[in-house]
Amino acid sequence: MTGSVLGMAAIISLNKVSVVREGKTILRDLSWVTRPGEHWFVMGANGSGKTTLMEVLAGYQWATRGHVAVAGAVFGQTSIPELRKHVGYVSPWIFRRMPPETLAEDVAASGVDGSAGSPVRHSVKVSRAARQALNARGCLHLARRRFGTLSSGEQLKVIMARALVNAPAVLILDEPFAVLDVAARAGMYRDLASLTGRRDAPQIILITHHFEDILPFFTHGIFLNQGRVAAQGLRHDLMRPRIISRALGVPAGSLPSVWQEQQA
Ligand SMILES: Nc1ncnc2c1ncn2[C@@H]1O[C@H](COP(=O)(O)OP(=O)(O)O)[C@@H](O)[C@H]1O
Ligand SMILES: [Mg+2]
Repeated sequence: MTGSVLGMAAIISLNKVSVVREGKTILRDLSWVTRPGEHWFVMGANGSGKTTLMEVLAGYQWATRGHVAVAGAVFGQTSIPELRKHVGYVSPWIFRRMPPETLAEDVAASGVDGSAGSPVRHSVKVSRAARQALNARGCLHLARRRFGTLSSGEQLKVIMARALVNAPAVLILDEPFAVLDVAARAGMYRDLASLTGRRDAPQIILITHHFEDILPFFTHGIFLNQGRVAAQGLRHDLMRPRIISRALGVPAGSLPSVWQEQQA
């Protein structure tokens, strides 16, 4: 990483990024810059390209065209393991590829190299980092439990520890709360809020369909529509029924009341 996070002009920097798969354009000419101290929510209909965008940022997919950099690391010039250190990634896909028999501490340790919890013997340094990451998420007591035996809320804490084990510049959360009960969701909200209060906090990028997930610390948002940016900017400027309805392609009158009350 070049310099401290606070000294950098941008954390995420995308310039005219397109992703084409099997002849289909999934992201088109997408430009997006995030800066230190910002936290972003990401919204858009199913199929609008949100997950593809996050996989590009996390180094699991490559842009067909355009320029991508995270925390000063330029994609195409930096090795994938190096890139992945800058980005903590929590997504349903990570949950699915985690073998259920893996111990929670090995799940957390697998974040060090972005692998999926293979039961290798870790160095003392990696083991210590994994246990520290579990402790920071309040789940060190789960260290010797098998991933598949944990509740959804406990699994999410362990996957969060995995994502944060390298102290990344960015933490991407792709619809992480969908399976949680009310208490677990409230616990995650508290945990995220306290995480963002830390001086070394990662920038949080949250994909969600739910207004209640847009916690007070989110400063900015981006709406995707059919692979393009429909709107982006300050939260305060986006949280207006006219903008939301246009960006999401929903008639303003049929937005849930919680959205309609967001009139500034
Ligand atoms: N490898 C692929 N090949 C072809 N189409 C894909 C591929 N991956 C995703 N898509 C398509 O790209 C679109 C965007 O997908 P995705 O990024 O998962 O959207 P979202 O997360 O917003 O629901 C969808 O129509 C999906 O079917
Ligand atoms: Mg998705």
